[in-house]
Amino acid sequence: MELEDRVKQIQQEAQEAILAATDLQTLEDLRVKYLGRNSILRQEYSRIGSLPEEDRPLAGQVLSKLSNALQKLCEGRKSALLQQAEQQKLQAQALDVTLPGRIPRAGHQHPLLATLDEMVEIFLGLGFIVAEGPEVEDYYHSFEALNYPEYHPAMDEQDTFYVSDDVLLRSQTSTVQIRYMETHEPPVQIIVPGRCYRRDTVDATHGHTFNQLEGLLVDEGVTFADLKGTLEIFAREVFGDRCHVRFRPDFFPFTEPSAEIALTCTLCDGQGCRVCSGTGYLEVGGSGQVDPNVLAGVGYDTEKYTGFAFGVGIERFAMLRHSIADLRLFYSGDMRFLEQF
Ligand code: DAH
Repeated sequence: MELEDRVKQIQQEAQEAILAATDLQTLEDLRVKYLGRNSILRQEYSRIGSLPEEDRPLAGQVLSKLSNALQKLCEGRKSALLQQAEQQKLQAQALDVTLPGRIPRAGHQHPLLATLDEMVEIFLGLGFIVAEGPEVEDYYHSFEALNYPEYHPAMDEQDTFYVSDDVLLRSQTSTVQIRYMETHEPPVQIIVPGRCYRRDTVDATHGHTFNQLEGLLVDEGVTFADLKGTLEIFAREVFGDRCHVRFRPDFFPFTEPSAEIALTCTLCDGQGCRVCSGTGYLEVGGSGQVDPNVLAGVGYDTEKYTGFAFGVGIERFAMLRHSIADLRLFYSGDMRFLEQF
């Protein structure tokens, strides 16, 4: 075959192969095959020497044209492949701004906390401020300063969790009454939200860990009527005008006189049901006029100052607020329950 024909054939073959290469390695292999040191082109060059002298320049020109053409083809294909790769990379990284966003799962307040917040809000509106105290308490603030007689059953290990002889988990937020009065002069007007612990048998209306809201108001001329008025306004704010507050005589060492507080049962609208043991009322806490012994114990002038105090169970309020028959549900962590609020 004549040189010219071979060159044509090589060019056509190479062109097809180069344009068909889809990756850089294949392309490089082709470049080596056609243009490298032992390439087809080199073989053609080496044949020039055997041509008649006058044909050699032309043959050289033809081959160098072929070499240039193939080189250009390789370079063109290489930049096309690189561009393609870049394009693919960009496409893979592209943001689809038309995709709808993912809505994050938002939590919400636990029904107990929401109830507490609402209760606190009402008392803030009545001029109370929030005070707090430790959950791990000593014997003095838990019982002695609250006027408990020496062998009161509340101090019994059966009823209270002890950390050591003198240290215990508080069984009521009334402890904070003492802590606050020890460090503040009257007038006092505080509420104390907080967790309490008791060795109670857990049932639908009792837990070993529960929350109370304590209230204390000490000033000149404070009477039992102030206590009643305050709690009635509070109950009506939470449950509306149909809610009735029932006060019945009770006993607490730190109040005299003392009264149990009960509210109309919202589960049966006061008709009597299993939760309120058929009475139409649910007991929510205790209250009374602060015993002068307690005031004297913190150095207050009992001739000048009187006060009232109360303590209510937040779980009980949450039960009434949402008509829930079993307070254990609040602690169950059951999402089917919690998602309803
Ligand atoms: N601390 C009492 C209890 O846990 C409740 C209570 C009764 C609190 C009378 C008071 C009060 O402040 O005056 O059962």
